[in-house]
Amino acid sequence: MIKGLIFDLDGVIVNTDTYHYEAWKSVANKYSIQIDKSINENLKGLSRRDSWNLIMEIGNIQLSDEETNIVLETKNNLYRKKLKNLSSDNLLLGVENFLQELNHKEFKLAIGSSSRNAKDILNYLNLSSYFDSIIDGSMVKKLKPSPDIFIKAAKNLGLKPIHCIVFEDSLSGVKAAKDGGFKVISVGNKELLDVADYHIDNFLDFKLDQYATVS
Ligand code: BG6
Ligand code: MG
Repeated sequence: MIKGLIFDLDGVIVNTDTYHYEAWKSVANKYSIQIDKSINENLKGLSRRDSWNLIMEIGNIQLSDEETNIVLETKNNLYRKKLKNLSSDNLLLGVENFLQELNHKEFKLAIGSSSRNAKDILNYLNLSSYFDSIIDGSMVKKLKPSPDIFIKAAKNLGLKPIHCIVFEDSLSGVKAAKDGGFKVISVGNKELLDVADYHIDNFLDFKLDQYATVS
């Protein structure tokens, strides 16, 4: 019996995953490291620091802690600059109607995002009030692929993982949710269905009952 739904933010509610990608490409480029879409699939969901560690590994470079901190700050500044373009046009198709429907049906809703910018984005887009709990990257020690974010979100909703569905667009996030004992619906990248329980391209026409037939 599903009682709660936990949503990743970037790439699930809003297409800010593309802003992360562009910002990382530009930062990596300064160190002559090329990031393509397939590399980006492995960056999605990871913390800012873990993303850069992976990029350094790919480029076979090592930086001092001081320089690493500068890179992380530069990336975040670039990313936040891009957020200034954000509007409801950036929401995933059908997502706001879906959230409204769920609120009316009295499901518990949470956000489980690795991003420290999550709350700002939700406030800016006037979406915060849909959620009973918002867990972001500043609230747990271990980020995705650790299940901690989702476990904390479920706990805050007063629910067990088996009673929650997680919506995720990243491999690290799908793995995190499966490890935490959640049902997972992957969003966007169809290859995630190898690990997830069900897949949707977006929220247009998606009905929870549809999912219930396979769960
Ligand atoms: C996740 C994104 O939601 O948040 C990752 O998928 C990003 O790409 C991570 O690295 C951390 O985000 P931020 O905004 O704190 O740098
Ligand atoms: Mg995501």
